[in-house]
Amino acid sequence: MFDPYTIKEDFPIFSIKVYDKPLVYLDNAATSHRPKQVIEAIRRFYEEFNANVERGLHYLSQKASEMYEDAHKTIAKFIGARSWNEVVLTYNTTYALNIVALSWGLNNLKEGDEIVLTIMEHHSNMLPWRFIAKKTGAKIKYVTIKKDYTLDYGDLESKISEKTKVIAIAQMSNVLGTINNIKYVTKLAHKVGAIVVVDGAQSVPHIPVNVKELDVDFLAFSSHKMLGPTGLGVLYGKKELLEEISPAISGGGTIRDVTLKEVIWAHIPEKLEAGTPHIAGAIGLAEAAKYLMKLGMDNVRRHERELTEYALKLLKEELEDFVIHYGPTKLNVKGGIIAFNVKGYDHHAVAAFLDTEGIAVRSGMHCAHPLHHHLGLKGTVRASFYIYNVKEDVDTLIEALKKLKRFKQ
Ligand SMILES: Cc1ncc(COP(=O)(O)O)c(C=O)c1O
Repeated sequence: MFDPYTIKEDFPIFSIKVYDKPLVYLDNAATSHRPKQVIEAIRRFYEEFNANVERGLHYLSQKASEMYEDAHKTIAKFIGARSWNEVVLTYNTTYALNIVALSWGLNNLKEGDEIVLTIMEHHSNMLPWRFIAKKTGAKIKYVTIKKDYTLDYGDLESKISEKTKVIAIAQMSNVLGTINNIKYVTKLAHKVGAIVVVDGAQSVPHIPVNVKELDVDFLAFSSHKMLGPTGLGVLYGKKELLEEISPAISGGGTIRDVTLKEVIWAHIPEKLEAGTPHIAGAIGLAEAAKYLMKLGMDNVRRHERELTEYALKLLKEELEDFVIHYGPTKLNVKGGIIAFNVKGYDHHAVAAFLDTEGIAVRSGMHCAHPLHHHLGLKGTVRASFYIYNVKEDVDTLIEALKKLKRFKQ
């Protein structure tokens, strides 16, 4: 049974007080908290198994290597990959997306080719492609959004042609909460021989994601947004694509042999995991993935959908003339992210006020400046949910916003 009140007990952070008030944490799109199971797995690794991986013959190194490989297997299972070696461990989503752009993009794109992006992309899935476009002469085309804040699929279709070589798209917008139809995008892309790179930073922690079903070519996500440690990210890639690319970031751990003339790369995923990896982090992330699998990603999605529905309902019923929400209201295309502004208040001022009430939200442009410019906004306040949030957290947020409204009257 999925019970957010019981789940919350696994998270030590919720024993703290913020200005003598209970913590209402609604900044999960920025980073999540970690349950004691994850913290314990990391502690145990350092206390009982710490060694470098794939390098030593001694007991500890073999044990650590085994645990590190097992972590890949658990993560592969979590996203439905065919094999553990399709899972490359990196440092975060940003780094994973840069690996694709640098290692695949630089070697496969040329003048006349086209890269399709959307205007709702996080900078991490936009700037690496802008860099590659400059280096290779490839052209970028941007897909716009509709009035209801969903992707304009008509515009997407019109921008895909035989020239399209890559479509880079977020599965869930970190501002609007819009869930994009990736299965449809991969179908369109594969018809013209393009690959699809999915930014899963906001989707993988919150909705069931199966890379085989979606038929994505690459998928990037971050451990720290899904209960795991910071400094660790995942790049999933189809085996044949990972095998074909030469690593742009190389060095120790990436080769089978090197002479002064030649390099023979290691097998995947090692050839793309240059240097000593975040071994304890990988073990922590595997524990986080196990925790989420035990809860069931369908249940995670259902819970967040209920909270979103509840929050949108209260905002409409009690604060419609005061709070403007930016994002779809249809729940089948909306994740647990609510970006808004409060009439007459700067977004940072709202976040600072909510902080005094013990409520953690994010304010600003959330690394999605082009989207904010498109909407004509200087910034937004963003509340985002996760497994340990409860309806009372939404009530606290709504009451605080009502208090703010009373100040204006
Ligand atoms: C949609 C999206 N993409 C990419 C990122 C970058 O993630 P990280 O900072 O972990 O690299 C974020 C983080 O906020 C995000 O929300």
